[in-house]
Amino acid sequence: MESLIIGNKSARLPIIQGGMGVGVSLSGLAGAVAASGGIGVISAAQIGFDEPDFYTNCPASNIRALKKHISAARETSFGKGGLVGVNIMAATSEYRAHVQASCEAGADLIISGAGLPADLPGLVQGYERETKIAPIVSTARAVRVILKLWEKKFGRTADLVVIEGPAAGGHLGFSAEQLTALTPDAYDKEIREIISVVNSYGEKFGCQIPVAVAGGIFDKNDIAHALSLGAKGVQMATRFVVTKECDASLPFKEAYLKARACDIEIIKSPVGMPGRAIHNAFLEEIASGPSPVTRCLNCLSGCNPAKAPYCITQALIRAVKGDVDHGLVFCGLNASRLHQMTTVSALMEELTQEDNR
Ligand SMILES: Cc1cc2nc3c(=O)[nH]c(=O)nc-3n(C[C@H](O)[C@H](O)[C@H](O)COP(=O)(O)O)c2cc1C
Repeated sequence: MESLIIGNKSARLPIIQGGMGVGVSLSGLAGAVAASGGIGVISAAQIGFDEPDFYTNCPASNIRALKKHISAARETSFGKGGLVGVNIMAATSEYRAHVQASCEAGADLIISGAGLPADLPGLVQGYERETKIAPIVSTARAVRVILKLWEKKFGRTADLVVIEGPAAGGHLGFSAEQLTALTPDAYDKEIREIISVVNSYGEKFGCQIPVAVAGGIFDKNDIAHALSLGAKGVQMATRFVVTKECDASLPFKEAYLKARACDIEIIKSPVGMPGRAIHNAFLEEIASGPSPVTRCLNCLSGCNPAKAPYCITQALIRAVKGDVDHGLVFCGLNASRLHQMTTVSALMEELTQEDNR
């Protein structure tokens, strides 16, 4: 398998571990993936949730924790051929501060979706060699919008583009109708179109812009398929949850191992976007009526606590800490195919071993 080259940076293996908030991908998982030669991604979403002053000084606790986890992952993986990235959702209220902190702490890459990261190039100015930038898009329309905007406003383009398809976990960039209507073949066509748009920007700027495909990538056949469409790598998240190194609690990982296909459903998150999660008592409870937000930490710019059916930060924190019946357990479509725990190195080996037949 070829390395993933992103401008002046490269990872020995073309596998990006997708960022998972809140607290699912921190330095434990990201450091292990980068130490195995891939790109380990820390999620910046409410990363300070375990800091003592999280509820009294949320912004400062998030910045402190973000810098701490980037340094720890860099230390674990130093000299081992991988890269350390950060996922920062465009909808985050503290977006600017999180980008700044990631650059200062030496993140190799910032991956940004859940909305359009319109201002990202301006926020990394001065760090272009050290910190690469990648938007997450789900459609050809979205990639055209963001790359045109970046060209017009900043005279630059993306270093990498992540395409996130309908089988992904967490918030999804599709309407509920699109999710049911899209067939794998139709989405392969969309992927090809996105790659052709990205390549046209590469030609315009005289550079190669690699594309990574995400959403439902499960084994090396899926990786081979993504590469056959013209991608240079993949981004995977769900499979990394059931590793020893994943930063979530054991009950969170066990919820994945127990989930059947019929337990995985599409939900509407408080910010209006659809998401994918494991059915549990919490989802039944909010389906029967809202759970008022009593303490708002102002995490997402699009969330109105007076109208939100529940607090997504609290629901995600409960889940990651192990209260999986009363929390929100985000997962990808393929979580029901997971039956045993593994380690990051065993998973990376499984995904990249050459076929000797
Ligand atoms: C538990 C969980 C949490 C996630 N949280 C985020 C997030 O905070 N921000 C984001 O951009 N993507 C998030 N994602 C999406 C992943 O980064 C990834 O792109 C996607 O899940 C890939 O599909 P796969 O899980 O089928 O491999 C999350 C996914 C999961 C499973």
